[in-house]
Amino acid sequence: MATITLKIRRFNPDTDSSPHFEAYEIEAAPTDRILDCLNKIRWQLDSSLAYRMSCGHGICGSDGMVINGKTCLACQELVGDFDYSKGITVEPLQYFKVIKDLVVDIDPFFEGFREIHPAEPQAQPTVEKERLQSIEDRAKFDDAIKCIACACCTASCPVDIKEDPLYVGPAAVLRAFRYIFDSRFVDADARMQIMNKPHGIWACKTYYRCTVVCPKGIKVTKAILEAKDRIRPADKKQQP
Ligand code: SF4
Ligand code: FES
Repeated sequence: MATITLKIRRFNPDTDSSPHFEAYEIEAAPTDRILDCLNKIRWQLDSSLAYRMSCGHGICGSDGMVINGKTCLACQELVGDFDYSKGITVEPLQYFKVIKDLVVDIDPFFEGFREIHPAEPQAQPTVEKERLQSIEDRAKFDDAIKCIACACCTASCPVDIKEDPLYVGPAAVLRAFRYIFDSRFVDADARMQIMNKPHGIWACKTYYRCTVVCPKGIKVTKAILEAKDRIRPADKKQQP
């Protein structure tokens, strides 16, 4: 165990005019998760500290934040992953409005999902038995369905942050990819057209930040590029 300092960006809209950092000293082992440290602070030192968490195991996607400049899930990062001799900074996700401390308003993230997913995907007509899918067809979207909607990709995408805040975001495109490449659904063309617009898939400038930060290791940029390739021929068909 060692004494470590967590410097946490705090903001309470009811009492603060601007955000500020507060430092907390706790005893922690290198194998403790940053989420354990936050829990220790909230449970033992300062119950007013606000952050989201639920599963504690990289499944619910609720504890995305920026730790020593790295966009990640607090439950997946160990104290020993950082040079804790100089203290560890913890900040809320970028791009989103801060509600309190490390809690951000995630609505714009899900708005992107709603935009590309306005209705349930249309499955193939009812069949007598199960809808069969080959192993190869299933493998096409295997990576995409690992997404836990944590918003880490959107919160570190330079397009969303600086260039086009209306961009639906990498995770929304990934969700569309999942339905476009699933052979059991029949409305891929309609979904591709929803994405085929300036703030849709074409806003992506291939910065690869989404792939770098994704805590589930999803090759997000590769999926976006594959979806772009799939949409391009449809574009050409529309031209006179
Ligand atoms: Fe999170 Fe990765 Fe899904 Fe983006 S693609 S929301 S980073 S799990
Ligand atoms: Fe659920 Fe971290 S607490 S993903």
